[in-house]
Amino acid sequence: MSTEEQKESPEAAAPAPREVKCVVLTGFGGPKMVRCQKKPEPSAKEGEIGDRVIGFCDYKAWSEVVAIPSQFVYKMPENMSFQDGAALPMSYLTAYILLFDIANLRQGQSIGDRVIGFCDYKAWSEVVAIPSQFVYKMPENMSFQDGAALPMSYLTAYILLFDIANLRQGQSVFTHSVGGGVGIAVTQLCHMMEDVKLFGTASYQKHEAVKANVDHLFDHVVDYPQEVRKLSPEGVDIFLDCLCGEDANKGISLLKPMGKYILYGSSSIVTGETKSFFSFAKSWWQVDKISPIKLYDENKTIAGFQLRHLLHKQGQHQYVKEIMNKLIKLYSDGKIRPCIDSAWAFEDVGEAMQKMQDRKNIGKIILDPTLEPKPKPVSPARTHTTSQCSEDKENTEDQQ
Ligand SMILES: NC(=O)c1ccc[n+]([C@@H]2O[C@H](COP(=O)([O-])OP(=O)(O)OC[C@H]3O[C@@H](n4cnc5c(N)ncnc54)[C@H](OP(=O)(O)O)[C@@H]3O)[C@@H](O)[C@H]2O)c1
Repeated sequence: MSTEEQKESPEAAAPAPREVKCVVLTGFGGPKMVRCQKKPEPSAKEGEIGDRVIGFCDYKAWSEVVAIPSQFVYKMPENMSFQDGAALPMSYLTAYILLFDIANLRQGQSIGDRVIGFCDYKAWSEVVAIPSQFVYKMPENMSFQDGAALPMSYLTAYILLFDIANLRQGQSVFTHSVGGGVGIAVTQLCHMMEDVKLFGTASYQKHEAVKANVDHLFDHVVDYPQEVRKLSPEGVDIFLDCLCGEDANKGISLLKPMGKYILYGSSSIVTGETKSFFSFAKSWWQVDKISPIKLYDENKTIAGFQLRHLLHKQGQHQYVKEIMNKLIKLYSDGKIRPCIDSAWAFEDVGEAMQKMQDRKNIGKIILDPTLEPKPKPVSPARTHTTSQCSEDKENTEDQQ
C-alpha cells in the first residue's frame, strides 16, 4: 500500500487500541484456570471518572484499568495508599453493615461476649439470631446453664412481686408450683425481704425437696383455700396464679382487703400431652366474670402478666433490660441462684419433655447443645420378636 493509500484508509488512521493486563478466569475450575491476559483498555463512558478513587466493579475488576459507573466510586483520602484503597471497601463495608446495621452493636458490647438472650421463637437451636435489644451480657461468674435458667423465671417472679404486686415487708404471698422454675424464683426473691410469709402448692412427691422454701406447703389437690384460712383467716396479700380455671376464683376469694391477684399462666389447660381446646374452654368458663364494681367494693386488684407479649409484641425491651440488670447484679452478689433440675442433649428432648409433662422436675429443665445424647438401650431380642411377629403376620396373610 502506498503512502497516499495509507492516508486515505480510516483503519490506518485510528491508533492501535491500548491493551492492559487483566486476571481472567478462563474456564470452569479453580485457580489453575485463572490467567493473566492482555485485554483492550476499557474506555470511560459518560458518568465515569478518572481520579484517585476506590470503586466497586460488578465484574472485570482484575484489570490494570477498569471502567466503573460513578455511583460506585468513592474519592480516596490523600493519606491512603492504592493498596489500602483496594483492601478496604469490601471487607470493611461488610463488617460495618453486619455489626452496626444488622446486629445493631452498641457501646459496651463486643464480639465474643457471653450473653443471655430472648428469642420469640426458634430458640431450640445450636445457633440463634437475636436482635440486640433482647440480649444481656452475662457476668463472669455465671455458667451457661444458669444463664439459660435465669431470665424467664426470675424476670417473671421479679416483675410479679415487686412491680405489679409491690411486695412489702410483713406481707403474705401465695404461689402455686413452688418446685417449678418461677416458683423457686418467687421463693428466693421473697426471702430477700424480711418478714414475708409464704404459702404454696406443689405435687406431694416434691414436698420433701421444697418444703424449706415456704412457710406452709400444700398439695394442690387438697382444699388449699380452707387450709390457708385456718392459718390466716383474713387471707393473703398477694396471690400468684399460674394455673387459671377454678384456681383463679379460689385465688381472688383468698385476697385480703387491698390484696392483689395476678394471673401469669394457665397450666391447668394442659391436661394431656398438649393444650386441648376442651380444657381451654373449660378453664375460660370456670373463671368467674368479675365486675370492676365488685373489686371496688372489696378493695381488691386483679392483674395479668405475659413476658413474651411484653417483650416481643409490646416493645417493652428497655423496661425488661432494667430488671434484667438488677437480676444479674443479684446473681453476681449471690442473692439468687437458679435451680436446675436436669440438662439434656438436643437428641434427648423427648425424654426431657416427658419429665416436664409428668411434673417430675424440680427447677428448670435445660436443653444443652454441647451435651452428648444418652446411650440408647439396644434390645436385639425385642427387635427380633417384632420382625418375627411381622414375618408371622405376613405368612398368615399369605396363607389366607
Ligand atoms: N407469664 C409469663 O410471662 C410466664 C413466664 C414464665 C412462666 N410462666 C408460666 O408459669 C408456669 C410455670 O412455669 P415454670 O417455668 O415454673 O415451669 P416449670 O419449671 O416447668 O414447672 C412446672 C410445674 O408446674 C406444675 N403444674 C401445675 N399444673 C400443671 C399441669 N397441668 N401440667 C404440668 N405442670 C403443672 C408442676 O408442678 P407441681 O406438680 O408441683 O404442681 C410442674 O412441675 C407455667 O404455666 C408457665 O406458662 C409464665
